[in-house]
Amino acid sequence: MKVTKIKGTLDYYGNELNTYRFIEKVAQECCNLNGIKEVMLPTFEATELFARGVGEGSDIVSKEMYTFLDRSSRSITLRPEGTAGVTRWFVENKMYINSGLSKYFYIGPMFRYERPQAGRYREFRQFGVEIFGNGCAYLDADIIAFADAFLKKLGIKNVKVLINNIGSKASRENYEKVLVEYFKNNIDEMCSDCKNRLVKNPLRILDCKVDKYSSIMKNAPKISDYLIDEDKKYSIEVVNALEALGIKYEVDQNLVRGLDYYTSTVFEFVYDDPSSPINGLTLLAGGRYNGLTKELDGPEMDAIGFATGIERLILVMNELNISPKNLDRADVCVITIGESVKLEGIRLANYLKNNGLRCEIDYLNNNLKPQFKLSYRVNAKYILIIGEDELNNDLIKVKNIDLKTEEIIKVENILEIFNKEGEKYAYKK
Ligand code: HAM
Repeated sequence: MKVTKIKGTLDYYGNELNTYRFIEKVAQECCNLNGIKEVMLPTFEATELFARGVGEGSDIVSKEMYTFLDRSSRSITLRPEGTAGVTRWFVENKMYINSGLSKYFYIGPMFRYERPQAGRYREFRQFGVEIFGNGCAYLDADIIAFADAFLKKLGIKNVKVLINNIGSKASRENYEKVLVEYFKNNIDEMCSDCKNRLVKNPLRILDCKVDKYSSIMKNAPKISDYLIDEDKKYSIEVVNALEALGIKYEVDQNLVRGLDYYTSTVFEFVYDDPSSPINGLTLLAGGRYNGLTKELDGPEMDAIGFATGIERLILVMNELNISPKNLDRADVCVITIGESVKLEGIRLANYLKNNGLRCEIDYLNNNLKPQFKLSYRVNAKYILIIGEDELNNDLIKVKNIDLKTEEIIKVENILEIFNKEGEKYAYKK
């Protein structure tokens, strides 16, 4: 029998791989801008890490892990997510000795034994960010704004931001008692998973996909009524900060997340297009997990993070016909008319590159056709044209491709076109 790929895995090549690499690049650029450093950690860890970190009551640990005994009979698990591993590394290497916030990101494969379908695989890749350090509502809002900006950079715009505050331990203990009391009386009408959750993790009942629209669920007690004052104040600060940052959000009181380490703020970015078969798909999710460093034998420390499934991003980008080629654009292409100005063109291109612009030039060709061809290939936003006349009169022709405009300006003012300041440019004659 022919050997085929394992169910729920993907072979990457061609366009899909290009899109994957592009997403990786955008993730790295966004992280660089925010001083978030990369970590690359093992894809398998001691099973205990996930049992203690993600929680034995979670679906991931109880049903979805790839766990096996190695040749020394140690229980090993292929990582189902990244937060537990990063926290293990953070604690193990005493990274908490550094003062201030410690900010990390990772990109790599995760493994979950789930039922494969569009956007759900058994091996999938996540880009995740984890930030350790003093909890502050502004940081919560800012990490949501970061995630929002990242998705926008990929051209993904039809997204709804759902947010909730599931409270600190003190708030939750209280609320869980009320929930158990409420659901206990209605549990016969609910699905078998909910029956289990009532005993193991009552909060997760709120997240049930089967009973989502039932009246029992709709009338369930709401966490906001049971938050202690400190948590209530915090959740108000987070939404106020989101508003100040211009991030649209919806409070979803049933958003509880499926991993046990969460405390306080939780959020999800879901695809929002009612006409699409993938409407409602969660693209990115995260929240605060203030107790995890302590759970993994480190000091008590606040932390927040998120992860996004790269396959889901590719799915949405394909659905929206977004190709990296359309987004991955050169700022400028310099075109020269005549051999005598080529070197001046290269000087100008270097000047623009030194001022932070992505600039391309055809070194070889003096004919216009191949030079314009290059500008299409790199999808340049601007074309700058220098000929003898421009050179002699210190001018340059500027074509804005998107606005379809053309103007001739003094070459010394070229940076103003790109809203940049710097030393003025002059031709060498
Ligand atoms: P999660 O909600 O389990 O959270 O996963 C985060 C994202 O990974 C999901 O929103 C989805 O985009 C993607 N994902 C999850 N499962 C699959 C799958 N089977 N196939 C494809 N994509 C999938 C976490 O993993 C947390 N560690 C997030 C986090 C980081 N919270 C704090 N820091």
